[in-house]
Amino acid sequence: MPVRTILAIETSCDETAVAVVRDGREILANVVASQVDLHRAYGGVFPELASREHMRAISLVLEEALQAVPDGWQSIDGIAVTHGPGLAGSLLVGVNLAKGLAYGRGLPLFGLNHLLSHIYANWLIPPDRDTVEPVPPEPEFPCLVLVVSGGHTDLVVMRSHSDVTAIGHTIDDAAGEALDKVARLLGLPYPGGPEIEKSAALGLPDSIDLPRMRMRDGYNFSFSGLKTAVLRLVQSYSHDGDEGAGPPLSVPNIAAAFQETVVDALVSKTAEAAEALDVHEVLLAGGVAANSRLRQAMTRALGKVPLRYPPRRLCTDNAAMVAAAAFYQQDQARAGWDLDVVPGLRLPGV
Ligand code: KG4
Ligand code: ZN
Repeated sequence: MPVRTILAIETSCDETAVAVVRDGREILANVVASQVDLHRAYGGVFPELASREHMRAISLVLEEALQAVPDGWQSIDGIAVTHGPGLAGSLLVGVNLAKGLAYGRGLPLFGLNHLLSHIYANWLIPPDRDTVEPVPPEPEFPCLVLVVSGGHTDLVVMRSHSDVTAIGHTIDDAAGEALDKVARLLGLPYPGGPEIEKSAALGLPDSIDLPRMRMRDGYNFSFSGLKTAVLRLVQSYSHDGDEGAGPPLSVPNIAAAFQETVVDALVSKTAEAAEALDVHEVLLAGGVAANSRLRQAMTRALGKVPLRYPPRRLCTDNAAMVAAAAFYQQDQARAGWDLDVVPGLRLPGV
């Protein structure tokens, strides 16, 4: 008998989140408390502060989620939690709470890989969909998934729920990490991805020539060279100090050229793999999947191969995706009381 209604906890980075999902798709509650304001002053996530903030927020977030579910605890059949990858101190808060709840209420416990959970955001029924619309069908296997988050960039083939293999990954910075670092160079606030997107909308991508990623190495990615090129550009700009002297170096133009180059790298490798592997569909997952330019360029490059991505709110960290992953991965994710955090956890194949 499958475990149908799962309460999930996500504390791997800087969002404290609890959600309840029925049958892996129907969101009954989805509460996310963001710590972004707290970390902005440091230009990135401050690990010690993150774990303390999770400690402070988690009980309130849990309570709010349970209040949204008719019958509260009575309807919950299992507890799922992210146990890696992520910040050790932050993961510990979620894992300890999950164990306590599962033990205290006599419920099964599931330990989930955060990256796999991002993928399963594509199985969730979009919460703001018009109820007269039919429920979207589940993704069809085999599918290719581009997981693009703050810490990871992986190209993943899914042939079934139990056959998930990464065929490519970044050899240096993750796409989100590169966006966050370049945003900082440009004086834009944390998190940088959405800020780059906003600024890029005001700039001209072709006004600046940035080096394109040239990776002959299978389906792997590399973004650190590009980040260094932007650093040099910004430094030369501050030395010259005269905008009229060189190319039109404005923040929007640099943001637009940089975003375009990152998107181009992600799109070309994914489209190449989709064709070679003859997949049914392509899925985007992770925070960077919220990027409109990525969605648009990928749709165009894939041609007839359908592209699917979660609604923006479900691209960035949340616990609904963890509950969905636990539902479909019940056998693989079932955990004992010795469940531990694994800060460096990877997907199979990487
Ligand atoms: O998946 P996520 O919420 O957390 C991790 O697991 O890392 O991803 C966060 C990343 C950050 O690097 C953030 O800058 C990026 O996703 N991001 C975006 C956008 N929204 C969030 N990047 C580009 N465009 C966006 N609209
Ligand atoms: Zn994430």
